[in-house]
Amino acid sequence: MALKSEIIPTGKRVVETSDLWRRNGHRGGVMWFTGLSGSGKSTLAAALEGRLFEEGYNVVSLDGDNLRHGLNADLGFAPDDRAENIRRVGELAAMLTHGGMIVMTAFISPYRADRALARRAAGEGFQEIFLDPGLEICEQRDPKGLYEKARAGEIPDFTGISAPYEVPTAPEMTIDTGAVTITESVEILHDYATRAFRLFA
Ligand code: ADX
Repeated sequence: MALKSEIIPTGKRVVETSDLWRRNGHRGGVMWFTGLSGSGKSTLAAALEGRLFEEGYNVVSLDGDNLRHGLNADLGFAPDDRAENIRRVGELAAMLTHGGMIVMTAFISPYRADRALARRAAGEGFQEIFLDPGLEICEQRDPKGLYEKARAGEIPDFTGISAPYEVPTAPEMTIDTGAVTITESVEILHDYATRAFRLFA
C-alpha cells in the first residue's frame, strides 16, 4: 500500500526490543497459522496460547472469527478485502511482536503475497505454520456448516470451493491435522515455539 503521509517521520523507540526480550525471558515472534476453514487453526492457536501462558510466556492470540467482528468488521471476502484483512493483522502482529509478545494468528490468509507482507512486517520471528488436512477432511468436519452452504451456492467466494487457497511454498512447519491428533499437534508446536523464541539460541 502506498504511503499517504510521507512527511511523517518514524517515531523514536525508547524501549528496545532486546530489553523487552531480556525482561520477558524469551523472544517475541509470530506463529502464523494458515490453512482452509476447518483445518484446525483456531483450535491449535488457542491450545498453544494456553500452554505457553501457563509456562509464563507473554502471549496473545488474533483470530479471524474475532477480528472480523471488530477491527476488520468493515471487510468481506473479495480478494482486496482479504488482502486488507491480512495487512492489518500482519501490521498488528508485527507491533505486538516488537513489543515482546508471542503472537498466535489464525486466519485462512489464502494469498501468498499477503502472507509475504505479514512476514516482512514481523521480521525474523515470523513462523508460517501450514495446517493441511486436505479439503476433503475440512469439508467432512464442516464445524460451522459453511462448506455445505458454499456448495449450495449460498456463500460466494468460499475458500477451497469457489475461491482459491494458495499453498505455502516454504512454511516453517506443515502439520497434516487429518493424521495428527490435537494433543500431538500441540506438543509439536510447543516444542517448536519454545525453541524458536528461546532467548539464547
Ligand atoms: S481470510 O481469508 O481473510 O484470512 P479469515 O480467516 O479472516 O479469512 O476468516 C475466515 C472465516 O470467515 C472462516 O473460518 C469462516 O468462518 C468465515 N467465512 C465467511 N465467509 C467466508 C468465505 N467466503 N470464505 C472463507 N471463509 C468465510
